[in-house]
Amino acid sequence: MSDFKNQVRKITELVGGFPVSEYIPSLAWIDHIRGLNAKAEEVSKTFGDLMDKVVQEHLDSRDKQTMDLVDILLSFERQNKDGIEIRRSDIKFIILDLFLGGTATTHSLLEWTMTELIRHPECMKKLQDEIRGDTTKLNIYRSHEEVEDMKYLKAVIKEGLRLHPSLPLLVPRLLTEDVKLKGYDIAEGTQVIINAWAIQRDTVTWGMDAEEFRPERHLDSPLDFRGTNFEYIPFGSGRRICPGIGFAMALVEVTLANLVNRFNWRMDVRFSEDEYNLAEAPGIDVCRKFPLIVFPSTA
Ligand code: HEM
Repeated sequence: MSDFKNQVRKITELVGGFPVSEYIPSLAWIDHIRGLNAKAEEVSKTFGDLMDKVVQEHLDSRDKQTMDLVDILLSFERQNKDGIEIRRSDIKFIILDLFLGGTATTHSLLEWTMTELIRHPECMKKLQDEIRGDTTKLNIYRSHEEVEDMKYLKAVIKEGLRLHPSLPLLVPRLLTEDVKLKGYDIAEGTQVIINAWAIQRDTVTWGMDAEEFRPERHLDSPLDFRGTNFEYIPFGSGRRICPGIGFAMALVEVTLANLVNRFNWRMDVRFSEDEYNLAEAPGIDVCRKFPLIVFPSTA
């Protein structure tokens, strides 16, 4: 499992990397020396094998009662639905896309949000007060329905997404036609990279304390992350907007609520240097450079 996690990390590092050959094709040999090609082949084989296994397992248990997403996709295989034919290779890529899109991002958001809560004990206390309410039974599981109305919890997660968007440069786009923008001519085929990280720390929108973790700013804010407010786009915008928003938020809300409800958290004193705590790893998803090490104690 830990090797698998390493492979996911490798793929996100590769996708977020800077392949020289993409910009200066005659210097492709530099990528070769940097070992990029070998790394790409390694992760491609690992994930190819894994997807083969997932598909085979589903084919072997076809007569089971309930169908999951892979079963449904396999049932469409080779059928021509509305002019679209789904092949085995398409199915494997859809599963891989969901898998990569849904794991590292959600995990990274949780880890960064916990980091900020530990750096800001007053926010942690406020959140615990909201989640624990006046109950004395702290070991009770907080369900999805219960967290639905927790405004501060949602504000904390929104602030985590603002300061640490899991995909800070979203996913690169290519212009499909020539565009004129603010007096500039931009040619078809140009790669466009949108810096959501910088947009979400812009003092014009967020005020002079834009770099600060302050969940309260979301309590009465009309800004939403569903792609219509361009000042806040942690899930992107437009036709390529993240299709997993609902799933991601449900998962992170319930997980975070239960983590802080049941336990009090303390960080190892060795890791109290802010710079160390906030160091980011390279890659398309900017996760923590060093894993967050915290100790729980029962509340
Ligand atoms: C905190 C969690 C998540 C964050 C911050 C996040 C963020 C993003 C962003 C920024 C994009 C690119 C959108 C764009 O360029 O406009 C994206 C794409 C995508 N996400 Fe998420 N995501 C998260 C969770 C998930 C989950 C849970 C799933 C699925 C189970 C998922 C599946 C996908 C897929 C398949 C794409 C590619 C869509 C496409 O290009 O057509 N994501 N996500």
